[in-house]
Amino acid sequence: MRFLLSVLFSSLVTALPSSLSPVDLNARGPGTRFSTQCSSIRLNGAWLVANCPKDNGRSLESSIWLGSSLVNREGNLIWEVNGGFQGSCFDCNLLPNSGTLNCTCQTSFRPTRVTAIDLEEHVFNYNGHLLSDLAGPPTIPADKSYPFPANTLFTLQPSTETVCGPGFSITSNRPWPCFNLEIVRDGWLEWQTARFLEEVDNGRGNPGYEVTAYESKDCVGTPIGHMSVQNATQCHTFAGKAKGLAIIPLWNWA
Ligand SMILES: *[C@@H]1O[C@H](CO)[C@@H](O)[C@H](O)[C@H]1NC(C)=O
Ligand SMILES: *[C@@H]1O[C@H](CO)[C@@H](O)[C@H](O)[C@H]1NC(C)=O
Repeated sequence: MRFLLSVLFSSLVTALPSSLSPVDLNARGPGTRFSTQCSSIRLNGAWLVANCPKDNGRSLESSIWLGSSLVNREGNLIWEVNGGFQGSCFDCNLLPNSGTLNCTCQTSFRPTRVTAIDLEEHVFNYNGHLLSDLAGPPTIPADKSYPFPANTLFTLQPSTETVCGPGFSITSNRPWPCFNLEIVRDGWLEWQTARFLEEVDNGRGNPGYEVTAYESKDCVGTPIGHMSVQNATQCHTFAGKAKGLAIIPLWNWA
């Protein structure tokens, strides 16, 4: 009921200034349907990527990490903040000419179940950016020019030694607003250096993440290190002992 009311309210608000013009069936609150308005709509892992029109008519490439919005509940895809569906669903695809995500998901009772969800219930084009209104009206980020990488996978190797070496590594294909290194090994190890390992698929170690290191496990305070796409595979020495790493994409993402 609350959802219905807010939809009615926002369509009233947007309808008022243009009440004499034809009703735009694609309009929905401040965001608009991506399946009909955007092009090159694709899935890359749990990333939904598209080129969407901005209000000024130009096109912008952006992406949204669907793991932040969808959960797998017994083989059903359901909206949930930080749902992490990608951990138990696979073989995902977008149904043709729609905004529907179709995946095979694990259940407790059967091996798997094929399930689908209409992403346009909560993902819209906001001035060129794919954003979700699941946690409330989204803030539209600044436009970035960094392209969405062909492969979002990275392997970051922090080390507790003063020289980078084999040992622990983080392999992922998603943003980490704050990766807590303290939980990795009993909480008392402190991390002094890090490097990106060269991936076979991207050939340069870091496909497009910015890493900021902090002495606090919550990634607050003065940064003690910064790694970006240049010299990614070189060993980077932090100006202190790192406990938290913010690993943030350089491309348009949410
Ligand atoms: C949905 O995806 C599954 C794989 O996860 C596939 O077997 C099935 O054909 C897809 N359904 C449609 C309607 O495309
Ligand atoms: C990074 O690499 C570039 C190009 O090889 C080089 O000019 C620059 O000095 C390097 N920066 C650091 C901090 O190593």
